Amino acid sequence: MNRPAMDAYWMPFTANRHFKSAPRMLVKADGMYYTDDAGRQILDGSAGLWCVNAGHNRKPIVEAVQQQIATLDYAPPFQMAHPKAFEAAEKLAAMAPQGLDRVFFVNSGSEAADTALKIAQAYHRVRGDAARVKLIGRERGYHGVNYGGISVGGMAGNRKHFPVSLPTVDHLSHTHDLARNAFSRGEPEHGAELADELEQRIVTLHDPSTIAAVIVEPMAGSTGVLIPPKGYLKRLREICDKYGILLIFDEVITGFGRLGADWAANKFDVLPDILTCAKGLTNGVVPMGAVLTKREIHDAFMAAAPERAVEFPHGYTYSAHPLACAAAIATLDLYQDERLFQASAAKSQVFEDAAHALRSTRHVKDIRNLGLVAGIELESRTGAPGQRAFDVFLKCWEKGALVRFTGDIIAVSPPLIISEAEIQQLFGIIDYAINATA
Ligand SMILES: Cc1ncc(COP(=O)(O)O)c(C=O)c1O
Repeated sequence: MNRPAMDAYWMPFTANRHFKSAPRMLVKADGMYYTDDAGRQILDGSAGLWCVNAGHNRKPIVEAVQQQIATLDYAPPFQMAHPKAFEAAEKLAAMAPQGLDRVFFVNSGSEAADTALKIAQAYHRVRGDAARVKLIGRERGYHGVNYGGISVGGMAGNRKHFPVSLPTVDHLSHTHDLARNAFSRGEPEHGAELADELEQRIVTLHDPSTIAAVIVEPMAGSTGVLIPPKGYLKRLREICDKYGILLIFDEVITGFGRLGADWAANKFDVLPDILTCAKGLTNGVVPMGAVLTKREIHDAFMAAAPERAVEFPHGYTYSAHPLACAAAIATLDLYQDERLFQASAAKSQVFEDAAHALRSTRHVKDIRNLGLVAGIELESRTGAPGQRAFDVFLKCWEKGALVRFTGDIIAVSPPLIISEAEIQQLFGIIDYAINATA
């Protein structure tokens, strides 16, 4: 197939020069498979980019978007609306963790993170508690690429080129502890006490009356599938409650069935005050994110502003875009009609066993998993961190499987429709690829 000219497109989070020397081009997708420009079938082991939870080219979603674009292509979201914005919000609220029933729409996970941080700070302000401005993130956290998100985030590589952060930020320690937790199946046993750092160091240092919110991913995905230790999130919740600090869960990856439950909040039985989601919200078909809040947070804004005033001066030209709303409604219906979150739970054991079967494969120093996500951590090559996993990723591609890698960790997160045979096929290819890599 003739390839297009490749000079103009500056690719995101990509080794541009390497890619353009040997492109990996996707031209079609259906169900569990991509097709590349040579006509090869590629098993999707990463749900696109953690977003295509219902599999590709799903008819109800495709038709909903097609119909929407021919009916109402765009509607301004400021001082105007369209019915599907309300319908999508009601549907999302109805299936959200109970108690989170107010929905602010955005266009991505990054925008969701920054919006959540702004809601948290402004919430305290509208209640007359304006000193609460500090935001606490966590090492190895990923909350997208905007300035709020990278400030509270803890991916060193994403911060070092932009050495300006929000000034009112601190970070908890990460929970990754291979010395005690290597090869854990599900939640690791050790590390709940790491949450105590919030009380013992951060609250003490900053004074709780200055802290607006703590933001964490219940499971850190992009920094290498870091499953929370048993009891850790509950402990965070308790400390936040004790000091009037809002707890924000970034569920951009963990929402919509990834962990074998609808939400991580339900999986771990910990209700945050604010929750962000994106990706699986539209099955990746149209960009969309959302911030869900407890009703009292929303109501505090309504109560504080005069009747005809804008209560929260924030939003995007494409907030609640008609195509995104149509895609979200169809996607959420599909998840429910096909009981895909239950399916994810039902396949977790087979997935876990297939992942841990690679335990004795060379270079492997840890395997961890929960629901339909697994991380396979490899020994790094001396002086070349990340290169071994990059080679494994390339070998998987050659063999017909798409996986993600971050540092020297392979992340596996297929669409929830994956069959048991495809689970075996996927881990078989990964095993081959690791063995074939120096
Ligand atoms: C937890 C989390 N938050 C935020 C984001 C950013 O989402 P987006 O790339 O849609 O801006 C991601 C993306 O992977 C994520 O995993």
